[in-house]
Amino acid sequence: MGQGVLTEGFWRQSGALWCEDVPLAAIADAVGTPTYVYSSAAIRGAYARLAQALQPLPVRIHYAVKANSNLAVLRVLQEAGAGADIVSAGELHRARLAGFRGEDIVFAGVGKTRTDIEHALDAGVLFINVESEQELALVGEVAAARGDVARVALRINPNVDDATAGHAYITTGEAGSKFGIDVARARDAARQAMALPGVALVGLDMHIGSQIGELAAFEGAQRRLRTLLDEVRADGCDTVRWVDVGGGFPVAYADGEPHADLEGYARVLGALFGDAGVQLIVEPGRYLVAQAGVLLTTVLYRKTSGRKAFMVADAGMNDLLRPSHYEAHHAIEPVLAVTQPSTTVDVVGPVCESGDFLAVDRTMPDVPPGTLLAVRDAGAYGFAMSSNYNSRPRAAEVLVQGSQWGVATVRESLDDLVRLERVAPDWRSA
Ligand code: LLP
Repeated sequence: MGQGVLTEGFWRQSGALWCEDVPLAAIADAVGTPTYVYSSAAIRGAYARLAQALQPLPVRIHYAVKANSNLAVLRVLQEAGAGADIVSAGELHRARLAGFRGEDIVFAGVGKTRTDIEHALDAGVLFINVESEQELALVGEVAAARGDVARVALRINPNVDDATAGHAYITTGEAGSKFGIDVARARDAARQAMALPGVALVGLDMHIGSQIGELAAFEGAQRRLRTLLDEVRADGCDTVRWVDVGGGFPVAYADGEPHADLEGYARVLGALFGDAGVQLIVEPGRYLVAQAGVLLTTVLYRKTSGRKAFMVADAGMNDLLRPSHYEAHHAIEPVLAVTQPSTTVDVVGPVCESGDFLAVDRTMPDVPPGTLLAVRDAGAYGFAMSSNYNSRPRAAEVLVQGSQWGVATVRESLDDLVRLERVAPDWRSA
């Protein structure tokens, strides 16, 4: 795709940043900012790389919908051959609208309600990942009450530390985490499942966190899952056909950060499960979509305060929460070629919070108000975590495919903000 490929799907031509065959400035001109733009080629490329690396294994890729649940993005992944990994009835609804069949969906989540479980059974999901003994009992009860047998996988917490290269908030697999069933009780939980008439234990599951940079930690955790598989079989269970090893394949957000060693993961999984007679499932979110997206934002003002210099942009923490919530780094660059020398600024948003920033002490060209910026690698956990805080309408989302682009989510209007509210509540008597 010409000179200067940055990440797949994004490149520069005569200094201007393009997404596939569309200049980003043209999209901003047409739909305004802030706007998320996704490259369908980049999504397909990431999917193909992962599928290729894992190809020696009997494995299915179930996209973690939470990373980016836009219907058009879901459709790209569904057409590429992915299944879905969901955590709510809302994500189930989205996955079905995007074309995923029930049998291509696995349903995790630490706090499923009775209604969630009913939706899962109605949809005929491949299995429900249960995260506690009480949830297991409830799934059994709900299924038995409708004369059904629920396919379940036990989500295990393997008690591993330091597996993730990211922030403490994205670690899920150490002791004291709310996720999954403590590995020390997992064998008993499996016995409980085998005894329940309303459930069939068809899988074992684990997700130890996001940005898993340490293959050794991943291997240690998966080894526990393999041990559990052998124990469960020794206890007489012959129905486990799936081992879901979770997501967490890392993405490099800054120069010098390591890239995902996909072949390494495949080797580990092959060594541990190659002879296990199970079908593997992986649940990547970030890896498939992070680098496929940018957030376009316009510089509104430049100002200084004490020794600090600020660039005030029209996108803030309500649009992209990651910098503020996880101290996450996202590269930020002008969309068009600029000549200004570099300076060091905080790129902040309009939200009334000191923690509202896109970058802190960032060295970048000293561009004037009106400049269009691209916040890179914003395709995962960007729009999906956005909110209406400060009564800000959420951004538009655009999907690019070759020389075509289309609005996949219309920018919210001011009326959309209050659509479900009433100035006068519908009072009821107690
Ligand atoms: N499976 C389960 C059960 C999960 O909880 C998650 C992510 C995934 C798969 C996908 O993980 P991934 O492949 O995307 O790393 N908002 C944070 C990340 C939170 C991840 C939550 N669970 C961030 O922006 O960094």
